[in-house]
Amino acid sequence: MENHKAIALFDSGVGGLTVVKEIFKQLPGEKIIYFGDTARFPYGPRPHEQVRRFVYEIMDFLQTQEIKALIIACNSATAAGLEYYKERTVLPLIGVIEPGVRAALKQTRKGKVGVIGTQGTIESGAYQDVFRKLAPGMELYSQACPLFVLLVENDLVGTPEARRVAEEYLSPFKDVGIDTLILGCTHYPLMADVIQEVMGPEVQLISSAEETARETRDVMEKKGLLNLSGTNDSRSRFFVSGPARTFKELAEKLLGERIKAFQVILNSDNPLIQQQQ
Ligand code: DGL
Repeated sequence: MENHKAIALFDSGVGGLTVVKEIFKQLPGEKIIYFGDTARFPYGPRPHEQVRRFVYEIMDFLQTQEIKALIIACNSATAAGLEYYKERTVLPLIGVIEPGVRAALKQTRKGKVGVIGTQGTIESGAYQDVFRKLAPGMELYSQACPLFVLLVENDLVGTPEARRVAEEYLSPFKDVGIDTLILGCTHYPLMADVIQEVMGPEVQLISSAEETARETRDVMEKKGLLNLSGTNDSRSRFFVSGPARTFKELAEKLLGERIKAFQVILNSDNPLIQQQQ
């Protein structure tokens, strides 16, 4: 049976942990295997072709582990080529963009939705494409917020600088009067407090992390892959391409629990797993 296998997730860094946290909450029986490409973070400013190459390497590595599904817990990687990745696996593959758009469409009253993301995500037009498909004629306002991921990875979310940067990025949305804002980067739920403060209580924030976990639950249920008897705690594992200790410290703070982290030197033929932290 496949049910006991892990759900794999990956991101360029700690952002995908927002999805992990939601998976633990919504699917408490599942264990996960996480990969953070911290040595090559950030993905946002990189050309799509390069991001796709990184994703292929990560997918190849994750598929050497006992996994039953793959979640691309990164909007930039999803935007760079979800369709391409589907050709690389027979496992269910879940991206983060469509779930967020669907949730925003359910939520909006005025039909004025905004999306924020990395440069790569916003410039790809991936959100616009899904939006056009699901709600032709409705308006989507977008804004790249590249500094947000750096604030999160450097643990600077609660600082006055974070507030200043958020005010600067978000002011165009205030002018057009959106009522719903999609956090189109998995790092951004970690900035939700400051974003909400700047936008005001009448604007509804949509976390792609929460929506993706919900979508994962639906897919697992439909395919009969849910693990109803397991526990995720000690059996989940975290891999990173950069130093394991740095990641482990921030990850434990974000997840609120102890984790095991390993550094992996990616090389498509023979991925080398290094010391545990
Ligand atoms: N967490 C990634 C995303 O959802 C972005 C971070 C990066 O630029 O690498 O887009």
